[in-house]
Amino acid sequence: MAEKISFEAPRGMRDFYPEDMLWRNKVFDAFRAAGEAAGFEPYDSCVVESYELLARKAGEEVGEQIYHFFDKSERHIALRAEMTPTLARMVAQRQKELSFPIKWTTIAQCFRYERMTKGRKREHYQWNVDIIGEDSILAEVEVIGAACDALRRMGLTSADFKVHVSSRKFLGELLAKSGIAADKHAQVFLALDKRGKMPDSEIAAMLRDGGLSDAEVEATFGIMETKSYEACPELVELFRLAGIAGFADCLEFDIGVIRGLSYYTGVVFECFDTKGEFRAIFGGGRYDNLLTTIGGEPTSAVGLGFGDVVVTELLKSRLGADAAKAKKGIAVGFMFPEQRDAAVALAAKLRREGESVNLSLRSQKPKKFFSHADSGGAAKAVFLGPDDVEKGVARMKDMETREEKEISLT
Ligand code: HAM
Repeated sequence: MAEKISFEAPRGMRDFYPEDMLWRNKVFDAFRAAGEAAGFEPYDSCVVESYELLARKAGEEVGEQIYHFFDKSERHIALRAEMTPTLARMVAQRQKELSFPIKWTTIAQCFRYERMTKGRKREHYQWNVDIIGEDSILAEVEVIGAACDALRRMGLTSADFKVHVSSRKFLGELLAKSGIAADKHAQVFLALDKRGKMPDSEIAAMLRDGGLSDAEVEATFGIMETKSYEACPELVELFRLAGIAGFADCLEFDIGVIRGLSYYTGVVFECFDTKGEFRAIFGGGRYDNLLTTIGGEPTSAVGLGFGDVVVTELLKSRLGADAAKAKKGIAVGFMFPEQRDAAVALAAKLRREGESVNLSLRSQKPKKFFSHADSGGAAKAVFLGPDDVEKGVARMKDMETREEKEISLT
């Protein structure tokens, strides 16, 4: 006898049953609508990339989480862990032809060999919105505004989430003022990004390993208490413009936002639920040097990645488990095999008229048909019995109001 294999998806990977697709579609629809509303053009690429493009310096988590393998021609291949390096590559390839700034968006499936915790899978879909070739802070405002718009389209408000905003440049200036040399900042960012995930004593040790003196370590922790962004004109302008655009209530300054990826150069931000129950909903920032790092021309860039996992958990918790269900379409059923042809003809007619029709495949008792139509989420239902077919008319029932309307079968 054949050995029984596990019916479960590989660890960390998800199956999407129809009820899961309702949620996924709700989230993806909001992503697409918000991207389109803000004028972002869709793009895509293959989930497989060259390992060389994705690999990172030691110490960066994402670099260590890459799924990679050699193909039969010994090419070193990887599954993308994020879209940003691919976007940089695609832009670099067409740098001469594109007219900047460009605004691009995609929903990309990404793979990371993560330690499995709440909100973290080994595969997720990540909505990306990026503006390439714009130095102005309005790029940050447009990108963050699009993400807030997506959350609102999903049914959340600024009472449910806040985008925590900071600037690596600002933090760098504060560190420099304390005498910490710029060549140590990357190491400091890496250590500070771990705050909240490990004890401060370990972070202090990391900072000392990065070449900071005890006094500098102390100064660094002092800087992390900064509560005002008034000394950073860029952030002042960002908050001001967000006010005009109508989403300043979704933002708050948080010097503690660093971001784990080393390519960020300026404004950085991360969105959290206000109750602090879940992991980051989305994150991003300015990354002005990535294009040159991969060999392209110097080009400024801002963008974000917004995963489907955390936001779906948040939506289920705040809106209820049934919130993704919506009544739609018409169920068509028939009582005896003799009415089957008429049911097929009616379904075809309604479909030609643009309706979504779920045609019963078998004859059924009316009670069973209507209860099935109800649980199947039909908005309307038509049931054909011998009399209806003889008269050439039937009744279409509204499943919500229970009202009936006569329709012609011909
Ligand atoms: P990231 O912070 O690594 O940034 O990921 C962005 C978002 O993707 C997270 O906030 C989270 O929603 C989701 N995410 C990441 N890893 C997982 C996982 N293992 N399971 C579930 N969800 C996950 C980036 O990836 C940057 N490339 C974003 C970006 C675009 N920056 C500029 N442009």
